[in-house]
Amino acid sequence: MQVAIVTLFPELFGSFLQVSFVGRAIASGSLSVHLENLRPHGLGKHHNVDDTPYGGGSGMVMRVDTTVAAIEAAEAALASPTRPHRVLLTPQGARFQQAKARELAEHQSLIFVCGRYEGFDERVRSFVDEELSIGDFVLTGGEVATMCVVEACIRLLPGVLGNAESTSEESFSAECGGLLEYPQYTRPAAFRDLEVPEILRSGDHEKVRAWRSAASTERTHARRPDLLAAGKLARKGSP
Ligand code: 6GU
Repeated sequence: MQVAIVTLFPELFGSFLQVSFVGRAIASGSLSVHLENLRPHGLGKHHNVDDTPYGGGSGMVMRVDTTVAAIEAAEAALASPTRPHRVLLTPQGARFQQAKARELAEHQSLIFVCGRYEGFDERVRSFVDEELSIGDFVLTGGEVATMCVVEACIRLLPGVLGNAESTSEESFSAECGGLLEYPQYTRPAAFRDLEVPEILRSGDHEKVRAWRSAASTERTHARRPDLLAAGKLARKGSP
């Protein structure tokens, strides 16, 4: 997979791209990441990439001309055989979810556009394929949100995680029925007054499976009832 990130702060991505499985994915050639600095695309002596809003009001707005110049430079740098899918990170975007991570992971090349300031000139939206938000809160820029989305996608690529880190039985996976994962334990069997449930140590695989399924449903009911409701709707809607 090829990824380009358009940002005013490319240095924010330093250790993110070097460490752990993202670093390994790059080292092994499963992933390449191009950082396109917006600043050189800026205008005038100060390389401005933002300006005051038409109609007045506080704050600055990211310019369309410089933003699009950076997006097109990023696309040229990728030199992807297929047209890269362009994603704008903004609190106004659709909420990013695991299903979207699976969908994005299918693309051969992706361009993420990170904003700063009060937002983008509305016309920037004509130059991207979709807008994503990572939740109902406001960040100062799209960089951390881009790291979330990139990390969620890259770990799904074949061969990026080892067997021990499998993505098949984690929360939101099909194997977990789109629910939260069941509680996990490792040694020691007793810590202070906290013991590992007896069933998990019984060696009875059928009982373990049933316990986990019940625990997963119970936990989802307690913490994320919205997921159970969504699951029921999805099952109703399927043939
Ligand atoms: Cl994608 N960007 C910003 N600036 N804030 C956010 C966000 C994105 N997602 C949640 N808050």
